[in-house]
Amino acid sequence: MSFSTFFSEQARKPSGLFGQYIMSTVFDIGNAYLNSFVSEQLSVQPSDHVLDIGCGTGKLIYNLAAKGNDGYFEGVDYSNTMVLKALRRNKKNIKIGKVKIRKGDFDGLSYKDKVFTKVSSVNTIYFWPKPELTVQKIFNILKTGGLFVVAFEDIKQLRQRNLNKDIFSLYTAEDVKDLLADSGFLTNIRLESKSKGKQTFHCIVAKK
Ligand SMILES: C[S@@+](CC[C@H](N)C(=O)[O-])C[C@H]1O[C@@H](n2cnc3c(N)ncnc32)[C@H](O)[C@@H]1O
Repeated sequence: MSFSTFFSEQARKPSGLFGQYIMSTVFDIGNAYLNSFVSEQLSVQPSDHVLDIGCGTGKLIYNLAAKGNDGYFEGVDYSNTMVLKALRRNKKNIKIGKVKIRKGDFDGLSYKDKVFTKVSSVNTIYFWPKPELTVQKIFNILKTGGLFVVAFEDIKQLRQRNLNKDIFSLYTAEDVKDLLADSGFLTNIRLESKSKGKQTFHCIVAKK
């Protein structure tokens, strides 16, 4: 297996010692800027119920839970390695029922309709096998007036990296806007972009 395929597979679903020590550090440090951008866009209020899909090490959930006093914060990830990290990081808030970490493939898990006020997903869309079904499900679990924030890196910088294109599906911001529009978010879809050095990051913010 080439390093490109190995790394791309680890980014999609971290596992083993590499996932535990290397990918968790890559996510916590490498994705920190994008996650704080998402946090701004979510603008969590005390009564929010938030779901983070592909929560990785649970850092976004941890930071959001520190802000939303009476809110509820749930993370889901299908990597055992990441779920263990997220559980450890959030254990205080899990104990009091403010945070929940679920292990599983978001597409396959069952959720009640209209339970979340906000849903986020950061650097995860590349790995969704059927993105239209995933977005449709997100639409269904959001309350009316709820917000979906999907965050990803600019396609130009991702193309420069040695990623396996069979594992990473790359999208332009327009592609993602269209995807959301086709999956129920008919209006109220806006693009927010931010750059740090030579890197550009996008959030598509859609209101139900
Ligand atoms: C590149 S990491 C990003 C992690 C985190 N969101 C961050 O910004 O640091 C992608 C994560 O999404 C998870 N993931 C990808 N597709 C998923 C799915 N369908 N259901 C649950 N987790 C998923 C992977 O296990 C991995 O931890």
